[in-house]
Amino acid sequence: MAKPLIVGFGGTTRPGSSGERMVAAVLAATEQLGAETRLFGGAALAAMPHFAPENPGRTVEQIEFVEAVRAADGIVIGSPGYHGGVSGLVKNAIDLLEDLRTDARVYFDGRAVGLIVTAAGWQAGGVTLSALRSITHAMRGWPTPLGIAINTIAQKPFDADGRLVDADIIAQVNAQAAQVMALARR
Ligand SMILES: Cc1cc2nc3c(=O)[nH]c(=O)nc-3n(C[C@H](O)[C@H](O)[C@H](O)COP(=O)(O)O)c2cc1C
Repeated sequence: MAKPLIVGFGGTTRPGSSGERMVAAVLAATEQLGAETRLFGGAALAAMPHFAPENPGRTVEQIEFVEAVRAADGIVIGSPGYHGGVSGLVKNAIDLLEDLRTDARVYFDGRAVGLIVTAAGWQAGGVTLSALRSITHAMRGWPTPLGIAINTIAQKPFDADGRLVDADIIAQVNAQAAQVMALARR
């Protein structure tokens, strides 16, 4: 049987951003559970122009991203909390998924979507996670019961080499990966 494909995207333009690392961590945990994965991190998202619905032209990067999400059996999204909400970089990628509007399996239909927020404070973590859940509902997806909100100042989840070292957060990563995979296997 083919391995389920889990596609993750997110993070910021900063190389090694906490959001990108968290998405990568959940993807790695799904690999442990038998998935194949594809990550679109901050650099890949920054390579995509501002979505313009009136313009049917697409860059190679945009096509690759849309095709990956179209083929996905599960999705993971990581956004920083920027001014109390989803960052423009991540929202631009989500807006491009309007290209899935006329698919038989529209947008995120039938797929579990693991959601992660990294922010410098607790409040932005909560409200941005709530915004990502609303977006996922609007796009017919199934937000996993466990959303992950990290306070990167208070929690310091990574060591100097960028490895996830906080045991509580590792447990959340594994739980979210299992929830994404539960629907992907159906
Ligand atoms: C433009 C901008 C707006 C931000 N707004 C908030 C905010 O409203 N609340 C908050 O807790 N952190 C805010 N932050 C901090 C980021 O959420 C934080 O740095 C996050 O962990 C992203 O870091 P990363 O580059 O490691 O992914 C903001 C950062 C920037 C650059």
